[in-house]
Amino acid sequence: MSDAGLSIGLFYGSTTCYTEMAAEKIQAQLDALFEAPVVSVFNIKETALKQCEAFDIIVFGISTWDFGELQEDWESSWEDVYQLNLKDKTVALFGLGDQLGYADWFQDALGMLHDALSESGCEFIGLWPNQGYDFAASKGLTEDKRHFVGLSLDDENQYDLTDDRIQTWCHQLLDELG
Ligand SMILES: Cc1cc2nc3c(=O)[nH]c(=O)nc-3n(C[C@H](O)[C@H](O)[C@H](O)COP(=O)(O)O)c2cc1C
Repeated sequence: MSDAGLSIGLFYGSTTCYTEMAAEKIQAQLDALFEAPVVSVFNIKETALKQCEAFDIIVFGISTWDFGELQEDWESSWEDVYQLNLKDKTVALFGLGDQLGYADWFQDALGMLHDALSESGCEFIGLWPNQGYDFAASKGLTEDKRHFVGLSLDDENQYDLTDDRIQTWCHQLLDELG
């Protein structure tokens, strides 16, 4: 627990390190905003997902692979996702995808994770506007299709936007957390 009295667990899975890089940037940004080392980062390949229950605020990071499939470490842990008890926890999601290469499946895993967690009792924050992207279909959108269910990053086609998006999103999380 930091001096700020707040502790955030960030759990991610990443195959080619893009989600990992985003996780580290989000950690740096939130630590800077809270002026304390509030974020602990865990790769779910090495840390059991269950450990996230120790945190009141949790950030999950996931990438989409193979035409709308889960990143491989999330796939391996998928049964555990449904076992999580996140009652009264606050959860924010972020996803990595490729909107041009996989326009019909952009950020699908982000949406699948959101749906899988929806029975866990958590409250979601950090919805993200869908403007500024070019894709055909996504399971990562809210029901009204106006937002992604979490921060949507595309380092293949919009790498230059990633840092600003992370910065804006982290400020948004701070506001939503009050
Ligand atoms: C073989 C392959 C399949 C992919 N399939 C999808 C997809 O269906 N939807 C999507 O949005 N992105 C897809 N992507 C893009 C990845 O999500 C993107 O490269 C991401 O940054 C990978 O993050 P990671 O290295 O953290 O796993 C795919 C990439 C590759 C190489």
